Amino acid sequence: MSPSRQPAAFTDGRALLDALTLDVVGRRREIEIVVAALAGSRHVLLEGPPGTGKSTLLRSVAHRCGVPFEFVEGNAELTPARLVGAHDPARVLSEGYGPSTFVPGPLAVALHEGGLLYLEEINRIPEETLNVLVTVMSEGELHVPRVGRIAASPGFRLVAAMNPFDAVGTARISAAIYDRTCRIAMGYQSAADEAEIVGRAVAPYTEAEDVGASGRRWRQRVVELVRATREHPEVRVGSSVRGAVDCEILALELGLIRARPPRQRSVALDAAVSALSGRIRLYEGSSRTPESVIEELYDRIFPADDDTDDTDAGDGTGNDDDVGDDRDDGEREAGAAGKAPAPFPAEARRDGA
Ligand SMILES: Nc1ncnc2c1ncn2[C@@H]1O[C@H](COP(=O)(O)OP(=O)(O)OP(=O)(O)O)[C@@H](O)[C@H]1O
Ligand SMILES: [Mg+2]
Repeated sequence: MSPSRQPAAFTDGRALLDALTLDVVGRRREIEIVVAALAGSRHVLLEGPPGTGKSTLLRSVAHRCGVPFEFVEGNAELTPARLVGAHDPARVLSEGYGPSTFVPGPLAVALHEGGLLYLEEINRIPEETLNVLVTVMSEGELHVPRVGRIAASPGFRLVAAMNPFDAVGTARISAAIYDRTCRIAMGYQSAADEAEIVGRAVAPYTEAEDVGASGRRWRQRVVELVRATREHPEVRVGSSVRGAVDCEILALELGLIRARPPRQRSVALDAAVSALSGRIRLYEGSSRTPESVIEELYDRIFPADDDTDDTDAGDGTGNDDDVGDDRDDGEREAGAAGKAPAPFPAEARRDGA
């Protein structure tokens, strides 16, 4: 494919860059590399643990780059015929084989239209199907029996994502695929970015746009708890940022059901254990349970209930000191009673949330 024949959307890398920055929290470096790779007609592979924003970034690329895209979910049932396309048996019976009986699959469509072929979970795709891609990626064309050659129109590129630790139903993708792609390793994001991601996900569940300083502080601790699961000596795989999102939303909803502040230990610990215990994987032979690990980390990170009301939470910068962390249980319960469970007032739940 000649670099001089770029479709319009890719020549304006700056506009695409700005658009991606709106959808994706942080990840500036990765966004720049993706845009550069696509502008240079390279295929791209994003590789990283769950919840690190691979799909978020690729979905944004697909929607914002201004070219057609074909989405393919990688799984064991993705046969070459499902990826490439196949002849319609009924029409073959009446008309005989020919180009008109061919029903193009996502690969044929993307090649024909010069679009993006967006492959999720590429390492779940059977090797036989991946082999079809190998030729297409380097030669820019596909040969279909009784149809002939389908050449890649300018703009055809492949973007793929995979989680290398995903051990069930997956295989390592071949060196041939790696040799035809630019790889971007996606590690866990910074604590600040994870807090921002949680904030965006939780926003529909809170009435106030700004959860206030104490709400932000609590969110930072939830993120800290989730990040601590990745460092715990007994934990092989820690939780993704999805765990932090679930923890905060669950605490909010549970607080409403129990008519207690969502940040009170009697609510937040249940939320944390439920949100995180299934997401962590302990080392083989560990004598611990996932629940006990989460409770241990919870007690380390939330030394006492933080039921500070937002209204007295200071300057809104999130820098003000914690209030009440050193009170005993009785005082905490008393302090919580009768207070709005800031930052999630009881009436905050929105319909359908
Ligand atoms: N950088 C980010 N910007 C905005 N949202 C993000 C970001 N990273 C993660 N998220 C959010 O976190 C969740 C998980 O992200 P995403 O699905 O993109 O992860 P992934 O790397 O594709 O995970 P998996 O390997 O499990 O498919 C999504 O709800 C997404 O909205
Ligand atoms: Mg994904």
